[in-house]
Amino acid sequence: MIETMSLYPSWLHPEYDASALLPCTARWQDGELAIGGLPVTQAVAQFGSPVYILDEQDFRARAAQFRDAFAPWRVYYAGKAFLCSTVARWAHECGLGVDVCSAGEMAIALRGGVPASSLGVHGNNKSADEMKTAIEIGAGHIVVDSNDEIDRLQSLAGGHKVPVLVRVTPDVEAHTHAYVQTAVADQKFGFALDGGVALDALLRLHSAAEFDLLGVHCHIGSQIQDTDGYEQSVASLVGLLARFRDITGVQLPELGLGGGFGIGYTQADAPLPAAGFAPVLRRAVDGATAAAGLDPLEVFIEPGRAIVGPAGVAIYTVGTVKKVSLPGGTRTYVAVDGGMSDNPRPALYESEYSALLAGRHSDAPPMLCRVVGKHCETGDLLVRHAFLPSDLKPGDIIAVPSSGAYQRAMASNYNGSLRPPVVAVRDGGGTVLIRRETIDDLLAIDVGR
Ligand code: LLP
Repeated sequence: MIETMSLYPSWLHPEYDASALLPCTARWQDGELAIGGLPVTQAVAQFGSPVYILDEQDFRARAAQFRDAFAPWRVYYAGKAFLCSTVARWAHECGLGVDVCSAGEMAIALRGGVPASSLGVHGNNKSADEMKTAIEIGAGHIVVDSNDEIDRLQSLAGGHKVPVLVRVTPDVEAHTHAYVQTAVADQKFGFALDGGVALDALLRLHSAAEFDLLGVHCHIGSQIQDTDGYEQSVASLVGLLARFRDITGVQLPELGLGGGFGIGYTQADAPLPAAGFAPVLRRAVDGATAAAGLDPLEVFIEPGRAIVGPAGVAIYTVGTVKKVSLPGGTRTYVAVDGGMSDNPRPALYESEYSALLAGRHSDAPPMLCRVVGKHCETGDLLVRHAFLPSDLKPGDIIAVPSSGAYQRAMASNYNGSLRPPVVAVRDGGGTVLIRRETIDDLLAIDVGR
């Protein structure tokens, strides 16, 4: 093991058991992983490979944890992490609203039975059609992101009083990857707190008859594992509400704090649970509102990843096992039947993951592996560093935990790939939520001749 030290990060231990990251119903039965009572070999036999497994009980439990830990604040499930009509229904049944950011997500949530009044509508460049739909169905609120959008909403209001919040960029640096920080000054979202830009937007909306101005919103980033950034943004946003009250004499009732709550992908992560974030955020809001002499606010959050991420497991089948000799030792490249087309996160954000041999038990000693996909790119990595049993062979089934968020949701048809199905598991059975794509699906949209 000593000679391979430089090939993998210090946080990764050869004996690490990534089972800790699996969803709540995961069990090892005769050496094989079962989720929701369904053994992975059976899942692959029934639904094919690769397949995304979603543990319904785990999803519902996490939704309930957020609802209960943050009550009486409202919780909107951020559909961008993963949305299909069934998942929208689960979120609604758990007492959550749904945060949508496109006409597509709106349609899916409505099909899932989510009342329009429980939808929060986001997006930094909503189309006129998207805004019109949101107004006409009676979406609970629209978070406005630019002055152009205010112009457009005003012309589309058509007699409706449009419920809006202002997306504020308080120049807070969340401790996460630069591509998923959303509240620093130099990026595209919202109205800057600096220079009175956000205040001007609030005043403009307040004085226009077409709007029911509810409050302010901020989303600082994603995969955040501590509370600093939230505390800073609460202080900034409450300060803004106080300033608005001082100028207009009106206190706006609502404060949206976005999502961003992190999860574990490897043993290096130490995310706070919902119950860890909630009291700190609550104290921050209560303290800031009291100090500013504001009445208690109606607060809401929008967790996506922290609800659906740990509930999902990506299942792949090994196709090739290749040893590569390097100056620091040997790395074994394990190529599976998916890749960056079903999970672009490692290529986009250098995200780290964990992997497990899931279809059988092995006592073979661990070997340093890199789980890669089948695409024509060196960056087509799924799990950059993992120790897997040294008797790993083609046909073996690999599980990648923490795969429910921003994977199938960001999947593509790159290299003519067929996006894998999402199967909900529960009580020993699986239900297809999204079916596997077929070559016919690809050809159906290829309408040129
Ligand atoms: N609310 C708003 C306004 C958002 O933009 C987002 C995520 C969320 C809520 C939910 O954040 P969550 O709780 O899931 O962190 N594709 C990236 C993540 C992008 C997040 C975009 N916005 C990734 O795979 O890491």
